[in-house]
Amino acid sequence: MVQLTINGKLRDLDIEPNAPLLWVLRDDLGLTGTKFGCGIGTCGACTVHIDGVATRSCVTPIERVAGKSVTTIEALSADSTHAVQQAWIAEDVVQCGYCQSGQIMAAVALLRATPNPTDADINAKMSNLCRCGTYPRIRKAIHRAAAALAAAGKRA
Ligand code: FES
Ligand code: FES
Repeated sequence: MVQLTINGKLRDLDIEPNAPLLWVLRDDLGLTGTKFGCGIGTCGACTVHIDGVATRSCVTPIERVAGKSVTTIEALSADSTHAVQQAWIAEDVVQCGYCQSGQIMAAVALLRATPNPTDADINAKMSNLCRCGTYPRIRKAIHRAAAALAAAGKRA
């Protein structure tokens, strides 16, 4: 039995301790906003927050998350009103969309650590891959979100 908090709810999961968090989220809990891309920790499609830190869930055994708090894209906001989601919409970032929940979760973690990032900061810290090449719009959206958060006096 593994006990952890997922999107604010305490869960007791009767599950193999080495099961990857990604598949527990998708298959056992129906949280399919978190995507499977490479399965080897490279692409970032499976990014979630663990105690606020952007983490690749495909290479994270569930036992490593015991007692911690996991946040997925479903809980970032109730109605897509998080500043990063709004910036993504305003900049029309998404192409096929497959990588984007991971990109957004990575961007939120980046903005929490670096509220006013430069392009160099974004390039250094956003290691998520996008086959559609949306990187220029992702950078613009992160700058837009940073400005909106600063204007509102909020943190990501
Ligand atoms: S699916 Fe996890 S990093 Fe690619
Ligand atoms: S939007 Fe298609 S992979 Fe990123």
